[in-house]
Amino acid sequence: MSKLSIMAYSVGTLLFLVSCSFAIFYGYKVLTHDPPPDKKTVETYHYHFVLVPEELDNEYWRLVEKGAEEAAKKFGVMLEYAGPKQANIDEHLKTIEMSAASKVDGIITQGLSDEQFTPLINKVIGNGIPVITIDTDAQASKRIAYIGTDNYYSGYLAGRALVADTLGNANVAIITGSFYATNQIQRVKGFQDAVKFEKRIRIITVQESGISRVKAAEKAYQILQDHPEVNAFYGTSALDGIGIAQVVEKSQMEDKVYIIGFDTLPETISYIRQGIIKATVVQQPYEMGYGAVKMMVSLMEGKKVSPIVHTKTEIMRIGDLPLPPTDRKQVSQ
Ligand code: BGC
Repeated sequence: MSKLSIMAYSVGTLLFLVSCSFAIFYGYKVLTHDPPPDKKTVETYHYHFVLVPEELDNEYWRLVEKGAEEAAKKFGVMLEYAGPKQANIDEHLKTIEMSAASKVDGIITQGLSDEQFTPLINKVIGNGIPVITIDTDAQASKRIAYIGTDNYYSGYLAGRALVADTLGNANVAIITGSFYATNQIQRVKGFQDAVKFEKRIRIITVQESGISRVKAAEKAYQILQDHPEVNAFYGTSALDGIGIAQVVEKSQMEDKVYIIGFDTLPETISYIRQGIIKATVVQQPYEMGYGAVKMMVSLMEGKKVSPIVHTKTEIMRIGDLPLPPTDRKQVSQ
């Protein structure tokens, strides 16, 4: 072999080896690294928000999520719905902390208790992530805005409904979601204020359900054992009225016991139709979710948002329900 051909041969081998190692290196990279993000998904959303509810699978919170999802779709937001499986303040706070650490664009959550939520919300805001409270406000915090029920007023409405719907001595037992959640405290306070000048109305006991329907039922059962004079119940969170109604129905006491609850979940509506729950306080969970995402988008766009948006609250009784299809009258054509 001539010198020239030896050189050409070695250069060829070198090039071959270099290209092999490139191929191996890049092949390896492709195999061991996350696939590149799907460009389409990245382009279809402008912001990433997290909605942190009190309890993930709670039917009431699923309605809030539905509204939030709808707005997210409309405004190009990637919305995460994350939080405790069952109501748990520590997990709730942890989810907020983790969302902030992962640098989302905005956090929507309840301000469940001032003591624990206010410092955390202030810290998150301090790190440049806006927080909007929903359902329950943390008024003392630096949250940007609140959207949801005026909880004191809603409790007051419940109290006035009980006054309007009953005659004679009403001995009331209150079952509340939590002794520590601000919205529940305000709903009890509003109710107490609404009945305080009515001599015929006495509040016998206030007990806690942990927002669990089963616990609300257990508490209602025990209350009827311990306080046989109780002839009215007020349930201050979405599943309390349902738990109470189960017990009252089982004990066939629906004609003797007045129940007022909260929210319009399908079971509540069905108990109203059956005449077991007499009234309920209507909240707007879907609108809260929708409105919160919309407000957060406005913030992202540098627009001003109003610091308090109270969604509509009213009392619903059997007469306010549309007739079920089976009771509708066929009219002649
Ligand atoms: C309240 C929520 C609560 C839910 C529990 C609703 O009435 O507004 O704060 O998490 O009940 O079922």
